[in-house]
Parts: sequence; structure tokens; C-alpha cells
Amino acid sequence: MRIGVLTSGGDCPGLNAVIRSIVHRAVVDHGDEVIGFQDGWKGLLECDYRKLDLDAVSGILALGGTILGSTRVQPTRLREGVERAKGHVAELGLDAIIPIGGEGTLKAARLLSDSGLPIVGVPKTIDNDIASTDVTFGFDTAVGVATEALDRLKTTAESHQRVLIVEVMGRHTGWIALHSGMAAGAHAIVVPERPFHIDELTKVVGARFEAGKKFAIVVVAEGAKPQEGTMAFEAGGTDVYGHERFAGVARQLAVELERRLEKEARPVILGHVQRGGTPTAYDRVLATRFGWHAVEAVHRGDFGQMTALRGTDITLVPLAEAVEHLKTVPAERYAEAECVL
Ligand code: F6P
Repeated sequence: MRIGVLTSGGDCPGLNAVIRSIVHRAVVDHGDEVIGFQDGWKGLLECDYRKLDLDAVSGILALGGTILGSTRVQPTRLREGVERAKGHVAELGLDAIIPIGGEGTLKAARLLSDSGLPIVGVPKTIDNDIASTDVTFGFDTAVGVATEALDRLKTTAESHQRVLIVEVMGRHTGWIALHSGMAAGAHAIVVPERPFHIDELTKVVGARFEAGKKFAIVVVAEGAKPQEGTMAFEAGGTDVYGHERFAGVARQLAVELERRLEKEARPVILGHVQRGGTPTAYDRVLATRFGWHAVEAVHRGDFGQMTALRGTDITLVPLAEAVEHLKTVPAERYAEAECVL
């Protein structure tokens, strides 16, 4: 068989582990040929690819980022390029494509799958917001990075008796905020699923100082917003892909909390550091399992599917189901964190 692989969308620790796993299972165990498209869908549209053999994936298991590069392709460009993509697949004699990506990539995968291309998707995102899989690789690494940062920030916050508002990634969902906030014992966790009320947040943080504590740590997901009409809030607008830009919620909260509490407040934006560097052991194992199962699905002809973790098993779910909605943090999970607003 001849299989094409690509990584698309925001990168994520564990992408290289998937690529390596696909090559090992396909080339060594099945005698397949694997090619990698450069920079995601763009590589397929422009027929920019290279052969992936054992040498090409040697030593990449623990490497962050992606050896194939990644870009976001505008959905309209992809829609217009469906016939071109199909032409390249035929020209290259590909029996299957394995795109590794998040929400946008999987939507694109569905589009191409519906047009008749043989596709098996692999989900990835540090945000952990892909429905139909219990966990995505990259999330464990990101939570680890954010937790370590929060632990470190506590000591400087205490020295200066400050409120630190730490912004973590999570455009639509608050999984990283919830998990890192719980792991580090944050004093308030603010997530996009629950628009916050500034009075309530001020009360929670203020109560800590009244109780004699010298500092407070607030974790806020980048996509969090105030309840309508409760606080002046500057939105971030949209980028060229129509994605919402970061509004700088931590910066805006720092200004507001400092004014209301008369305590020094500082925003800390963790940003892309959460996506960089080596994946944790958990993420390497999950990514490797996804790669192995994607190749097996290709050999069975199980197309139009995505690999998923259910409990401890890897299974397949239809791409149509996978991209139907995002996985938000359920209410019971907020309750367990106690300090969620
Ligand atoms: O896709 C995951 C994510 O990390 C989001 O949490 C974040 O909003 C986004 O990527 C940022 O992506 P970029 O700045 O690379 O476009």
C-alpha cells in the first residue's frame, strides 16, 4: 500500500510520535510505502512531499513539533482545492491519507472523505476538546507545563503580595485551565464555558486577602469572557482564517482586579510554550497507539473514520461524529475543582 501522512493546524507534542509509529507499523510490519506531505493540507494541494522511511523517523519519538511542518489552510481554499487534491492522490497512487490534526483538520478530512478520498484521521490538540475521544495527546504535556509554571508563579506572587492572573490556552474550552488549576491549587479558575462575573471573581480573590493570605493565583483560559454587560471588555477580533483572536483576558482582568482590590495584579500569558518541547510519556504512548491503529484501519479499509481513545481502548469513530461538536468541561468537573467561578 502507499500511504500519505500530514500534520495540520496548531502543532502539539506527540505529532512526531504518531508519524514514527505510522512508518514503523506500515513500512516494517506491512511492507507499505509512506510519504509525508509538507506543511499540512498545503503539501497535498501543492504536491509537496517526501518519502518517509525508517531513517526519516529515527530519533523523533521524543521530539516536540512536527518534522512535516504544519500550517492552517483557509477552509475556502481547501474547498476549492478538492479536485486538485484528488488529482494528486491519484497521480501519486495513494491508497490512503492519514491527516493528524484538531477540529479544523478533521473537518477538512471529513470534506475530503465525503468527496471520495480514503481517509483515516488522527486527532490531536493540547486543548483536549475533540469530542468522541476521551483524551487527545498533547494535553498531558500542556497541563504539565502550565502546572509547573503555576507552581513557580506562586513563590513570586507571595514575595510581592500580588494577584497573578495566568492565561493558559483554550480557545473554546477550559480543560487546560481546569486541570492545571486543580493540580497547582489555584485560587480561582475561569473557563470559557462559564462566562464570569467580575464581582464574583473580585469577591473570591478579596476573601483570600481578608483571611490573611498574601497572594492569589487566578488561572484563566484564553477564551474566557465576562457575562454580558458586567465589565468593559475588549474583544480580540478575528484573524485571516476567521478564528477569534486572543482578547488578552488576563491583561484586562489584571487591570480590573488591581483597581477593585487595590492590590498589585500582573497578567502572565503562557502562550505557545504550552505547545512546545518534548511530549510526556503518556502523550508518546497515546500518539504511538493512534498511529498503529490508523495503519490497521487503512489495511482494513475502514475509511472516513478517526482513531479515538475510549477508556483504555483505541477505537474508531466516524469523522462525521467526531467533528459534530466540541467536548466542553461538564458541570460536575467544575464542582470538583471548587474554585471554579
Ligand atoms: O489549537 C490549539 C491552540 O493551542 C489553542 O488553544 C490556541 O487558541 C491556538 O491553538 C493558537 O494557535 P496559533 O496561535 O498557533 O494559531
